[in-house]
Amino acid sequence: MLQVHPPGTPADGMWAGVVWRQEWGGDVMMSKGQRHYMVDLHLLIAWRGSERVGLAAYRCEANGAELVSINAVEKGAGIGSVMLDAIERVALASGLARIWLVTSNDNLDALRFYQRRGYRIVAVHKGAVDRARELKPSIPCEGLYNIPVHDELELEKLLT
Ligand SMILES: CC(C)(COP(=O)(O)OP(=O)(O)OC[C@H]1O[C@@H](n2cnc3c(N)ncnc32)[C@H](O)[C@@H]1OP(=O)(O)O)[C@@H](O)C(=O)NCCC(=O)NCCS
Repeated sequence: MLQVHPPGTPADGMWAGVVWRQEWGGDVMMSKGQRHYMVDLHLLIAWRGSERVGLAAYRCEANGAELVSINAVEKGAGIGSVMLDAIERVALASGLARIWLVTSNDNLDALRFYQRRGYRIVAVHKGAVDRARELKPSIPCEGLYNIPVHDELELEKLLT
């Protein structure tokens, strides 16, 4: 049984920081040329019993919530879906009608994941990852499936 909660203890915050640094190669995430630091974002942690199994980070603006990162400790076990549902509920409850995000052009698994959950590709930001790499050199040049990583794909879901 999976449950999703905001961080409640310093240990939650420390765990989130470790996951972010391990999974995203540092303290900063880039999207559409903007830097995002974890401390500035809202976090949600997925729990299976007493074990932390997922982390999502998002931020809210008047025109919608941006899902900045989402990570499942174990893939294909429903953790990502539960976190995505939780963020959509939070956004709706905050009066926001849209969730958007970017992912890199190599992340075919994420593209499948989001599109099967109602997200549409609304823009391709050609060369955005190349530009982000100039500011964050830890972004790899070659990504999943040995695909060269150059571009950001922007997806959105309109919430009803
Ligand atoms: C993208 C991600 C968050 C999805 O989370 P998840 O917990 O694997 O998602 P779910 O289990 O809810 O669903 C994953 C889908 O892949 C399928 N799947 C099965 N085995 C899988 C596996 N070994 N790996 C990945 N997906 C698998 C699931 O059945 C499901 O399929 P569906 O879309 O047909 O329903 C997760 O894979 C992840 O952490 N990826 C690395 C970080 C990342 O790329 N984040 C997104 C960009 S910000």
